[in-house]
Amino acid sequence: MSDAPILGPMNHVTDLESAGDFERKHTPYINAERDGDKVRVTLKVGHYVSHPNQPDHYIPWIMLYAGDAPIARFDLVPVASDPDVCVTVAVDAGTTLRAVEYCNLHGLWAAEVEV
Ligand SMILES: [Fe+2]
Repeated sequence: MSDAPILGPMNHVTDLESAGDFERKHTPYINAERDGDKVRVTLKVGHYVSHPNQPDHYIPWIMLYAGDAPIARFDLVPVASDPDVCVTVAVDAGTTLRAVEYCNLHGLWAAEVEV
């Protein structure tokens, strides 16, 4: 049995300033605002470039991890929903939150932020 990821390799753009529109529209944007022991997390697909949201090209799901632990998953349908979701989490200061989203045509994309 292969150890290769079922959904393909993870794309991770480290320099969004010099990235093109293709990379920008697929990379999750993470806004995290700490309030005591809680963190309000907003995940949006696309860094200032919107991703298509049509039946033939869309984001079926977005997941949020604290370190390597999955803590939330959002399943989406095109047209009627938007790849822009919010959740409040309770994590220790210094925790790395990682968002992973899946494009039905272009695979897995990830971004991280420390909170
Ligand atoms: Fe895409």
